[in-house]
Amino acid sequence: LNNGLARTPQMGWNDWNSFGCNVNDGLIRQTADVMVSSGMAAAGYKYVNIDDCWSTRSRNASGDLVADPQKFPSGMKALADYVHGKGLKIGIYSSAGLTTCAGYPASLGNETRDANLWASWGIDYLKYDNCGDHQGRTAQQRYTAMRDALAATGRPILYSLCNWGQDSVWTWGAAVGNSWRNTGDIQANWNSVMGILDSQVGLESYSSPGAWNDPDMLEVGNGLSGTESRAHFSLWALLNAPLLAGNDLRSMSAETRGILTNSEVIAVNQDWGGRQGHKISDNGNLEVWRKPMADGSVAAVLLNRGGGTATVSTTAAALGLGAGTSYSVRDLWAHTTGSSSGTVSASVPAHGAAMYIVSGGGTPPTATALRGVGSGKCL
Ligand code: GLA
Repeated sequence: LNNGLARTPQMGWNDWNSFGCNVNDGLIRQTADVMVSSGMAAAGYKYVNIDDCWSTRSRNASGDLVADPQKFPSGMKALADYVHGKGLKIGIYSSAGLTTCAGYPASLGNETRDANLWASWGIDYLKYDNCGDHQGRTAQQRYTAMRDALAATGRPILYSLCNWGQDSVWTWGAAVGNSWRNTGDIQANWNSVMGILDSQVGLESYSSPGAWNDPDMLEVGNGLSGTESRAHFSLWALLNAPLLAGNDLRSMSAETRGILTNSEVIAVNQDWGGRQGHKISDNGNLEVWRKPMADGSVAAVLLNRGGGTATVSTTAAALGLGAGTSYSVRDLWAHTTGSSSGTVSASVPAHGAAMYIVSGGGTPPTATALRGVGSGKCL
């Protein structure tokens, strides 16, 4: 969406994956505090997002949504002020139906009223779900109505569509939202992460600055092993996915914090070289994914989905680099730089991934080679 926002994939946190409906003022304030004190904010995480279950069960007499006074006793405006005071931004949630997924009142038919209310609170981000009665209207109609209502507030509000891929949202999402969920909900287990990864194949040509595919929020630190969490984070970074941490930041381990704040991996996520990451080879459980970087280098993820350690290999040519005798290979997890005459390979543990930036080669790759014939997308 050409609203000036999410020119790189949005980064932040959302309460849903760890807390479900147990969201409240204290959690949001404490998370904002830790976002800063843990180094997450310095690493680029900016949005503190409230998901479902924040309101009362019905609108008030004048028709407005009301923050649940038990959960948010100081009100949303005061909470937004607090989050802004930390140098962060705050997000809220609703649905393009008559009710949210947890059964709270939602915004279909009340787009202008609700957008104005959120703007008056100082809200910076809307996650807009797809639950509740749709009143016979298509997803595109319902999501466009809220886009226009948000724009009319005059406040910059990042617009995150959450319609799980319905009506092939990737084909129209770029004109409507800053990102679009393209699958069902992620779960904190390896099979779920891999299932979502599989469903990203073929969607890589639809994203661009301001308009990102969203394979759902992160489960890093939520029951995945450290190895699995590094693989999940590597892949979401390579996909130019929104990076929304879904763990309890207040109690995260040093390992989880280290994964989420790996600046070299985040730099891949925030870079735009013309095309998001995509799979280039698939050999049973062993896969190679690449992403062109703006400086002509290529980011690569070597993934081992299987149950035992395996060697995963690719070549500079397969990654799209030009011919050469020596390439630089930067390991984004070990933070070491090596060199290669053309083969890039790693011994990768079960459910793990290695991630590299490979650069060099005599002839820079052509735009066509990197983008794939016929899949380029103009802004
Ligand atoms: C849907 C969304 C989730 C979450 C819940 C809240 O399932 O996909 O991300 O927002 O609703 O009820």
